[in-house]
Amino acid sequence: MDVLNSEYWSNRYNENQIGWDLGEISPPIKTYIDQLEDKNLRILIPGCGLGHEAEYLFNKGFHNTCVLDFASEPILNFQNRNPKFPIEQLFIQDFFDHVGQYDLIIEQTLFCAIDPKLRANYTKKIFELLKPKGKLVGLLFNIDFQNGPPFGGNKSEYLNYFSPNFNSIYMENAYNSIKPRQDSELFIIIQNKKV
Ligand SMILES: C[S@@+](CC[C@H](N)C(=O)[O-])C[C@H]1O[C@@H](n2cnc3c(N)ncnc32)[C@H](O)[C@@H]1O
Repeated sequence: MDVLNSEYWSNRYNENQIGWDLGEISPPIKTYIDQLEDKNLRILIPGCGLGHEAEYLFNKGFHNTCVLDFASEPILNFQNRNPKFPIEQLFIQDFFDHVGQYDLIIEQTLFCAIDPKLRANYTKKIFELLKPKGKLVGLLFNIDFQNGPPFGGNKSEYLNYFSPNFNSIYMENAYNSIKPRQDSELFIIIQNKKV
């Protein structure tokens, strides 16, 4: 496996090897966002890539949305496409170094992009970044891949990672994935134990 540092991901953007990029917001996440009413929610999209989810949120009036990626290329691309997006809400930073408090964190292909050895660290970090009653919402692959990234997995494995810190875990097959990911994604709504 290549070292999955920011240089690795920057190269993928520079070489346009970005097969994961949907070119638009992922439909299950769009459906979730469309039923949200509180426009003041503080939202983080870590490993945002080109940030289609953030663009959708911002244009809908969720102006407390933050994007984070440790590769500068996708963040600069996002900034060019969204010049009104506040600069202080753009983070070119390692997810594991980020400090903040959020009501909602959106997971869209960051978990599958990190080294599986870091999965427990990921769940710990998410726990740290969520406010009391904050939620992690998004998608996890429910399929094994030969050589990652992406790295796959399954529900029981993921439950082992999340259950020590989170007491409310919804994790079910997404019904409205894009065609190539149909029946291979779990939609998750995972809520914080701190109350
Ligand atoms: C598979 S891409 C997904 C991008 C975007 N979420 C999407 O679905 O189009 C994974 C992204 O996570 C970023 N990434 C990976 N590990 C990271 C880390 N530790 N901190 C911040 N960003 C990270 C990469 O730079 C890359 O942009």
